[in-house]
Amino acid sequence: MKVTCFSDSLLDWYQHQGRKHLPWQQTQDPYRIWVSEIMLQQTQVTTVLGYYQRFMTRFPDLASLAAASLDEVLHHWAGLGYYSRARNLHRCAQQVVAEHQGAFPVHDQQLMEALPGIGPSTAAAIRAFSTGARAVILDGNVKRVVARYFAIEGWPGQSAITRLLWQKADQLTPDTRLAEYTQAIMDLGATCCTPRNPQCGSCPVQEHCQAHLQGRTDQLPTAKPG
Ligand code: ADE
Repeated sequence: MKVTCFSDSLLDWYQHQGRKHLPWQQTQDPYRIWVSEIMLQQTQVTTVLGYYQRFMTRFPDLASLAAASLDEVLHHWAGLGYYSRARNLHRCAQQVVAEHQGAFPVHDQQLMEALPGIGPSTAAAIRAFSTGARAVILDGNVKRVVARYFAIEGWPGQSAITRLLWQKADQLTPDTRLAEYTQAIMDLGATCCTPRNPQCGSCPVQEHCQAHLQGRTDQLPTAKPG
């Protein structure tokens, strides 16, 4: 199988089916992309939309967020839950101002990962969306897509399985159109390759998906051992 087969099919699907008009998709500003990625980590797009617009009106740039009080940031977060995200957001803004002259170090994956609240996948997503760099993501949705596509056995929470999933995610990632690809694979996991009752009939990569071919989408990814 050609390595580009997966990304070509996925990009074609995204072109026709994907969401391309969300507010954080209309910018390459790392600040705006970062806020959206943190909000979207544990919250659905429809809920995030209103919060995002209000947050951007009050904190239009990194400097305004860094200068605000934590209380005010938490006030704008109220209702979104997982408040450690808001605390980290505020700390991260101050750290970028203090250590990176107010600009996210988007050309350096390691420096991005060193910032509060930014893990390897979020760092990669921010980099791909803002610069188009080839950066590999592996969030919860993408883990499911990759585990099914290659029929990878084992609970993804195990470090050996996580390592294998990163390696496979890397293998699937193309060299071009990184922003589109990154959004496409996230959308595939969110809308088509869902945890229960995945919509394989409308999946652009079903022909090569090992879990689908083996009729095992309901068993993969492997559940956490009880
Ligand atoms: N979850 C995390 N990042 C996302 C994004 N950019 N679009 C949709 N869901 C997401």
